[in-house]
Amino acid sequence: MKSSPPPLPPFLTMLLFIFLFLFPTIITSISPPLPPTSSPSSPSTSTLDPNQLKALQSLNIPTSKDPCIQPSFHNVTLCDSSKPFSHLISLTLSNCLTYTSLSYNALKSLSTLQSFHLLNCPIAPIHFPPQLTSSLISFTCISSLHKISGVWLSRLANLTDLTVSNVPIKASGPYVFLAHMKKLKTLTISNANLTGFLPKYIHSNLTQIDFSSNKLKGNIPSSITMLDSLENLNLSSNGFKGEIPSSLGDLISLKNISLASNSFSGSIPDSLSAIPGLVHMDLSSNQLNGTIPKFLSEMKNLKYLNLANNNLHGVVPFNLSFIKKLTMFKVVGNSNLCYNHSVLSSKLKLEIAPCDKYGKPMSPPPAKNSFADDISDSDYSGDDDDDSIHKREQHHGPNKFVLGVAIALSSIVFLIVFLILCSKCCR
Ligand SMILES: *[C@@H]1O[C@H](CO)[C@@H](O)[C@H](O)[C@H]1NC(C)=O
Ligand SMILES: *[C@@H]1O[C@H](CO)[C@@H](O)[C@H](O)[C@H]1NC(C)=O
Ligand SMILES: *[C@@H]1O[C@H](CO)[C@@H](O)[C@H](O)[C@H]1NC(C)=O
Ligand SMILES: *[C@@H]1O[C@H](CO)[C@@H](O)[C@H](O)[C@H]1NC(C)=O
Ligand SMILES: *[C@@H]1O[C@H](CO)[C@@H](O)[C@H](O)[C@H]1NC(C)=O
Ligand SMILES: *[C@@H]1O[C@H](CO)[C@@H](O)[C@H](O)[C@H]1NC(C)=O
Ligand SMILES: *[C@@H]1O[C@H](CO)[C@@H](O)[C@H](O)[C@H]1NC(C)=O
Ligand SMILES: *[C@@H]1O[C@H](CO)[C@@H](O)[C@H](O)[C@H]1NC(C)=O
Ligand SMILES: *[C@@H]1O[C@H](CO)[C@@H](O)[C@H](O)[C@H]1NC(C)=O
Repeated sequence: MKSSPPPLPPFLTMLLFIFLFLFPTIITSISPPLPPTSSPSSPSTSTLDPNQLKALQSLNIPTSKDPCIQPSFHNVTLCDSSKPFSHLISLTLSNCLTYTSLSYNALKSLSTLQSFHLLNCPIAPIHFPPQLTSSLISFTCISSLHKISGVWLSRLANLTDLTVSNVPIKASGPYVFLAHMKKLKTLTISNANLTGFLPKYIHSNLTQIDFSSNKLKGNIPSSITMLDSLENLNLSSNGFKGEIPSSLGDLISLKNISLASNSFSGSIPDSLSAIPGLVHMDLSSNQLNGTIPKFLSEMKNLKYLNLANNNLHGVVPFNLSFIKKLTMFKVVGNSNLCYNHSVLSSKLKLEIAPCDKYGKPMSPPPAKNSFADDISDSDYSGDDDDDSIHKREQHHGPNKFVLGVAIALSSIVFLIVFLILCSKCCR
């Protein structure tokens, strides 16, 4: 007996097994380190044009390191590769000191810029030299320059990308500058107190229009519905009214649309079913009436549907599998809308009443129904019911899962210990 090694005490054997079982789990739960973000540092032999270097210094941009070596300090600068001196093609000024001044001479020497971005730079409005005006193809002004005039913007006629946000624009309407920008592709004028109507003519291949949070009014003109490259249309939080034109269905490239928080009336046009790639549709907070069209549930890519706060009526025409597929679905605030409680569970928390047998909302608000529980899918009952559906992903009852794993593991460990003890005894 002395020669053979003493058998491990059962307690230790068990610990060993538990460790062996849990070890892979521990390893995988430690997230792998991020791959090093090695940036290809182009060994640029050329340095920046001395005049442009001086201009950068006048803007308090550090130049001790060559501003043309990428990535530059906070991505402030980007250069071309011309010889013997390279030239700036992109400049981003952010969080400027209030006394920073963009002198006309500095801007004049920066006239090779194609992109110019001002982020949180509340400096005095600037006068662009004509060379800069014609070279710029991308201009961003967010919370900068105090205010902008439409006429000033209209000179930037070669722009393909324009973003103005959190800066008031003084113009009698967007046509003042849009009429001149014939190459524009993306347009964001947001929270700029822009007044007037949408232009009757938009001459361009726009893929994005964001006019959210302004003071625009009138209806959606055909100039908008003719933009067949348009992917993103955001007209939310303005004073638009009238019916949603059925020609909106001509926007065959559309992915995201928000007409939220306006005064649109009439019904949701059937023509929208012709837009194959629609992902995001927000028509909330308008005065839309009629019923919710059934075709919406046949839109394969739809993920976000907000119809809240309108005057829609009738029965919600969707089944549970469609609603579960969406990451966001809202119909609250339509007092004449109801759901069929033999199709949809009260656990969805749609915040509308169930229907009576005539398809009208039951007059007393939804009571705690016991029959609703039988209908819901097994995987939809349980932890989710205290939450609106767009938060569903985060709730996957960890308690049940952990308990199951623990039980499975301990039974396996016991089985193995038992087998080992058995084999020892029977030897
Ligand atoms: C600079 O730009 C690169 C590529 O666009 C980006 O990955 C990086 O995070 C940016 N760095 C900073 C400091 O903004
Ligand atoms: C736009 O750029 C072209 C050259 O790319 C230039 O000839 C033209 O003058 C510019 N237009 C304006 C209005 O600056
Ligand atoms: C827009 O106008 C309102 C007052 O009418 C003002 O409070 C708000 O600051 C303005 N917004 C901008 C971005 O200037
Ligand atoms: C729109 O794009 C097409 C092809 O991409 C091009 O031929 C046409 O000139 C563009 N139109 C405008 C106004 O830029
Ligand atoms: C559409 O909106 C989603 C957010 O809901 C956004 O992630 C996506 O980039 C947008 N798509 C386009 C084409 O703008
Ligand atoms: C529209 O703009 C608003 C305000 O800027 C924003 O909250 C919303 O996500 C945008 N919607 C789409 C579909 O782009
Ligand atoms: C819906 O609204 C339109 C426009 O406001 C109105 O003409 C129509 O009568 C309304 N229909 C219903 C069913 O309320
Ligand atoms: C739910 O509705 C969709 C679209 O109308 C349909 O394709 C699907 O078969 C329905 N599912 C069930 C379980 O009825
Ligand atoms: C609710 O759904 C059931 C089963 O699909 C159907 O028989 C009934 O007519 C519907 N009720 C209403 C009010 O639509």
